[in-house]
Amino acid sequence: MTDQLEGQRMRASVLHGVEHVRVEEREVPTPAADEVLVRIEAVGLCGSDVHYYRHGRIGSFVVEQPMVLGHESAGVVTAVGSDVDPTRVGQRVSIEPQRSCRVCAWCKRGEYNLCPRIEFYATPPIDGSFAEYATIQADFAHPVPDSMSMEAAALLEPLSVGIATARKAGMAPGRSVLIAGCGPIGLICAQVARAYGVTEVVMTDLVPARRERALQLGATEVLDPAAGPLPEARFDAFVDATGALPAVRSGIMATAPGGTVVLVGMGEDDMSLPVGTITSREISVTGIFRYNNTWPTAIALVQAGLVDLDSLVTARYGLDDVVTAIETDTDPGSLKSVIVPGLR
Ligand SMILES: NC(=O)c1ccc[n+]([C@@H]2O[C@H](COP(=O)([O-])OP(=O)(O)OC[C@H]3O[C@@H](n4cnc5c(N)ncnc54)[C@H](O)[C@@H]3O)[C@@H](O)[C@H]2O)c1
Ligand SMILES: [Zn+2]
Ligand SMILES: [Zn+2]
Repeated sequence: MTDQLEGQRMRASVLHGVEHVRVEEREVPTPAADEVLVRIEAVGLCGSDVHYYRHGRIGSFVVEQPMVLGHESAGVVTAVGSDVDPTRVGQRVSIEPQRSCRVCAWCKRGEYNLCPRIEFYATPPIDGSFAEYATIQADFAHPVPDSMSMEAAALLEPLSVGIATARKAGMAPGRSVLIAGCGPIGLICAQVARAYGVTEVVMTDLVPARRERALQLGATEVLDPAAGPLPEARFDAFVDATGALPAVRSGIMATAPGGTVVLVGMGEDDMSLPVGTITSREISVTGIFRYNNTWPTAIALVQAGLVDLDSLVTARYGLDDVVTAIETDTDPGSLKSVIVPGLR
């Protein structure tokens, strides 16, 4: 099944260093025995792609050799490895862009995102999917229904972050949550919260246009953090989707006794937090690092119409315009740009 593309060339957008991306021809990858080859049809541009482009690193992950960006992707299976069911060719799939060892303690208990040997698309040195083709282990190419757009299928990846967050935050019917940050991750967390039955979803952002959009996409109320202090000890859960110290601190202070704080945002590595409040209110503080076992839930939520991913897409670009996509990402009107490799 792999023969027809062997030796063929494809186009890929490659990051060579800080603010240096160019389209190159590369060989179409050959799927290993347990992998499928996917013709990529849509890839969401993520803040981490922008960060690698601007700074060449995120924390201890440093781009030291040319790397293809992009990790929120979907497409069609065009070839399969020798151990994979050949009838999968032609299947529309959403890619879960990680590969774990499957035998360590974390993998065995299902927390494979914490595997010490995890490999992840567009995290150095692993190539991502701003390319015409990419390979992935067959069970991480999740089939999606025909009714789901390729763009929504690609955005099952950030939706997975929202689902992992909802699980850790203990979101449940009748509860309340405060979410800081109305970027794509915060907005997706808000939609998931509503889907999980959370009745009060209060969101904050410094940018008025983003607060406005949050009201349309799931928030029950929005607050301007610059307008005054947030309510004290009020919410069952707080989700930080900013990575910004003032948001994290005020969010902890807004969390009710016995509540949960989930830190999703990645910003400063070291922060001074109100630990006296965490202790006396018995607040649980946890992080989120991507997700595990979320795709079936993500597909079900979209199929049931409980989460709308298509509305998040604000622009589409071809592989030649990845830099334009990255540069316009700071425009407050832009929410989620999608790279369509076939677009010329
Ligand atoms: N932990 C994970 O696995 C994981 C996965 C994906 C993304 N992330 C992180 O989640 C965060 C959100 O991602 P995104 O794509 O939505 O980013 P984004 O930059 O588009 O959105 C962040 C929003 O926070 C707002 N903001 C900044 N300071 C604020 C403050 N003090 N109070 C309220 N709002 C404030 C900004 O105006 C912006 O709208 C990023 O830090 C990203 O790195 C983490
Ligand atoms: Zn992402
Ligand atoms: Zn492992």
